[in-house]
Amino acid sequence: MPAPASESAVQPETNPLRCEMPADPCAIVIFGASGDLTKRKLIPALYDLAANACLAPRFAIVGCARTAMSDDEFRRLCADAVRDSPETRTPGEAQWGEFAKNVSYVGGNYDHPEAYKKLAQRLEEMDKKYKLQGNRLFYLATPPGAYANIIEQLGQAGLARPQSDHSWARIIIEKPFGSDRESAAKLNQTVLGVFKEKQVYRIDHYLGKETVQNLLVFRFGNGIFEPLWNRNYVDHVQITAAETLGVEHRAAFYDNTGALRDMIQSHMLQLASLVAMEPPATFDATAVRNEKLKVLQSIPPRSTEQIDREVVRGQYGPGKSEGKEVPGYREEPDVHKNSATETFVAEKLLIDNWRWAGVPFYLRTGKRLPRRVTEIAIQFRRAPHIVFREKNVEPNWLVLNIQPDEGITLSFSAKLPGAEMAIKSVTMDFCYRTAFGPGSPSAYSTLINDCMRGDATLFDRGDNVEAAWALVDPVLDCWINAPAPRFPNYAAGTWGPAESDQLLENDGRHWRNP
Ligand code: BG6
Repeated sequence: MPAPASESAVQPETNPLRCEMPADPCAIVIFGASGDLTKRKLIPALYDLAANACLAPRFAIVGCARTAMSDDEFRRLCADAVRDSPETRTPGEAQWGEFAKNVSYVGGNYDHPEAYKKLAQRLEEMDKKYKLQGNRLFYLATPPGAYANIIEQLGQAGLARPQSDHSWARIIIEKPFGSDRESAAKLNQTVLGVFKEKQVYRIDHYLGKETVQNLLVFRFGNGIFEPLWNRNYVDHVQITAAETLGVEHRAAFYDNTGALRDMIQSHMLQLASLVAMEPPATFDATAVRNEKLKVLQSIPPRSTEQIDREVVRGQYGPGKSEGKEVPGYREEPDVHKNSATETFVAEKLLIDNWRWAGVPFYLRTGKRLPRRVTEIAIQFRRAPHIVFREKNVEPNWLVLNIQPDEGITLSFSAKLPGAEMAIKSVTMDFCYRTAFGPGSPSAYSTLINDCMRGDATLFDRGDNVEAAWALVDPVLDCWINAPAPRFPNYAAGTWGPAESDQLLENDGRHWRNP
């Protein structure tokens, strides 16, 4: 029995998403429903949305995948996903039942029109049963190779069109969006041959993280930082996304992808764009995405020699991670024995515009590093002249801790108590947990909720994705044509290859190793 329209299908918990109004009623169709992302992220996020009254009381979730599965089997998969999710509170039986009755499954081949006929029928049934007003959200969580097929089939089955003047059809497309600029442009063409740009939501889950969104509020909601946010005051910027995990069970994807495509093209360039962008005229999708695009367009193309000097790649060998002996990348299951895939990248970027000319942005990401930490660290220029006898005065750092200790730290010099004029660097700290309590919404809940409300501000536009690939492609070309790298070149549990330290030392700087 569908829940009556006037009451929430799942009883609200405390609402960390703080949605004032639930999104429109809609059907959410997940392609890749038996896959890892669906289990780890999408189902827990959708359950959280329902439990926090952010889904409309009337909704339906339809899983689609090649695996043959009954509705009940898919519901069990969803129940396990919610129970195993560290980000979601395990529901009681009644509460789960309220959610699970809206979940069903349609199996079939992604390139088979028959599967889409079955899906269209199921959507019509759901529409009638739950009065979903014809609203449909398609989520592509399959391996990227299946995207083009699914998009075309959705078009041919008439599912990409809104069902009436008052209904909507939207599509969320997971990263990686293409594997280089050419394939991204081709995929954009395929998508835009079937959907209109305003229906398309290219997701990068980093943009849904609370701390990443807060970067915009920090910069544009405060008067005191923005005047310092430029080449006159900033010495350089370091952006680190370090993981302790290795490749896990994702070698089939990762060994053909590598850190440059997996992290730099998407998450890291997103973070750099948000740090570097100009204030948008308004906080809406067009204005914000225009400003982010200008940042990427201001990064000049690099010669092969520059790439050799300014982009470092690495691959982990055996070592110790979090106290345990771990194998090297090449010994991981399903990784090629002589794999040349990079699990680490460090690079220097210059943004040639009036705000940032001459200020290096150093980006670094890697697997099997000593700590899981993502942070943006801004080093300000030193005081022009030190009048004290103690000359060794640390520069000021502003560190935005994206995860896991979400917060912001500003370091400055203070006098050490005592007779001497001794100087020590101290910090002012803002901690999310202390200020707002635990329990931020997951990035996926935020972004799915935004999509259901038709807000694309935190999603990528086709031209932004292509501009990011345009920065990555020359590096990929350069690596393909270079002699095979001497991998492994860093031990698991260390901060990457020596060349990464050298990259900053060449400029008289050092990485902050948090
Ligand atoms: C994904 C990458 O996009 O982001 C993974 O494919 C990576 O390789 C992950 O581990 C990191 O995300 P988070 O949210 O754990 O920092």
